[in-house]
Amino acid sequence: MLVVEDDPVLLTILSRYLGQRGCCVLGASSAAEALELFAHTPIDVTVSDVRMPGMSGHELLQEVRRRDPEADLILITAHSSVKEAVAAIRSGAADYLEKPVDCRRLHHTIQIIAERRRLRQRVRILELGGRDSTVFEGMVARSRRMLEVFSFIERIADFPTTTLILGESGTGKELVARAVHQRSPLRDRPFVVCNCSVLASGLIESELFGHVRGAFTGADRDHKGLFETANGGTIFLDELGELPLGAQVKLLRVLENREIRRVGSPTSVPVEIRVVAATNRDLGHMVRDGEFREDLFYRLNVGVIELPPLRERLEDLELLCEHFLTQFARRFALDKASVSAGAMQAMRSYHWPGNVRELSNALERASIMANGGEMQLEHLPIELRRTTEAPEKEEEEEVSTLDLSLEAAERDQIRRALDSAGGRRVAAARLLGLSRRTLYRKLDKYGIR
Ligand SMILES: Nc1ncnc2c1ncn2[C@@H]1O[C@H](COP(=O)(O)OP(=O)(O)OP(=O)(O)O)[C@@H](O)[C@H]1O
Ligand SMILES: [Mg+2]
Repeated sequence: MLVVEDDPVLLTILSRYLGQRGCCVLGASSAAEALELFAHTPIDVTVSDVRMPGMSGHELLQEVRRRDPEADLILITAHSSVKEAVAAIRSGAADYLEKPVDCRRLHHTIQIIAERRRLRQRVRILELGGRDSTVFEGMVARSRRMLEVFSFIERIADFPTTTLILGESGTGKELVARAVHQRSPLRDRPFVVCNCSVLASGLIESELFGHVRGAFTGADRDHKGLFETANGGTIFLDELGELPLGAQVKLLRVLENREIRRVGSPTSVPVEIRVVAATNRDLGHMVRDGEFREDLFYRLNVGVIELPPLRERLEDLELLCEHFLTQFARRFALDKASVSAGAMQAMRSYHWPGNVRELSNALERASIMANGGEMQLEHLPIELRRTTEAPEKEEEEEVSTLDLSLEAAERDQIRRALDSAGGRRVAAARLLGLSRRTLYRKLDKYGIR
């Protein structure tokens, strides 16, 4: 929530009071500052003074509601007058309070609003047709596979288990890593992100573990590594598959001994740290090719979270669209765009190699082009339009989203068998309990190569 108040003392008192009661509070000393925050941060409830230099609380309220019709605003009026109260409610305030502010009453009002928001959200989800969709640490989903991911996160977050997040690019690995931290007892401790692919390979060990002065040419002072910075909290090793073998050995040592040694230092220091790693590479393959240490792989392979690609959870598509379109409407101060049937069909048929990130990018551009109206097929990037423009493809995709026939199940099962057999047909036939000849016939029938 956001508190807007030009009196710095009152701002501090209110923020602190609400913060101590479990609200996540941001403060702004003017309406302009509030709108700036509003553009970048999701805010459920805003508490604003009415009389402020520049834009008034009433004007702020109108602007906020224009950007996000569901935003709730509580106004704080200086005088108790019927006129003020009527003005506040008429301009759409959820409630109004008088100065001097009774903090307890404010908190109570916020609780009621929060409860109402929860109900509204549940109703909206029901209206969307999914009984069990969820918002979890900034992620929205209704597909069974994602709901399972959420409940797995809940389970492992309490334990200091090392977590490995696997998934294609743009599937939400970083959000999941943050969720693990947020749901853990370490949530108030540091969450340090280390992108293993960005660090210059020569420097990676010193970046991760630090170094002492004189450890190598150019090391003219002691340097604290990311592990030490994250000590007591979580370190997120993003793009773990890019970590050079030398650093992998050291990482394994940290995981096993729970201590680190700065480069060039004879002594180690103990660390209490949670390690969350993510990669879009196939670590099993990398182990086979000698690019990733097997012992480290097994060490990390305990708490694995696998994020399904978007194309395998199209049930989430509408919900994600809703989520992003609301976000962009707010960011660009536009009305929320709706999605035409044609555009939705194109999104359903598309392969989404860049997953949720690609969806978000496509919608960002489309919302600007739709300019607060209905998003059309031509507002989507060219790759998406191609899918629907090619007629046979459209037919095939349409079938694949709706087809619940036994034939479709058989086709899927065959594909799956081929996948697990690494494409070897003889092995796939064995898995399926079919003769080789029968499998060949079916491959022809379904056009599987
Ligand atoms: N379930 C979700 N709900 C809402 N937003 C999501 C969801 N999943 C992903 N996103 C959004 O999609 C984008 C990509 O997510 P993220 O950066 O976590 O992916 P990633 O797997 O780390 O990608 P990469 O492999 O490219 O690093 C982000 O903007 C993120 O906020
Ligand atoms: Mg990422």
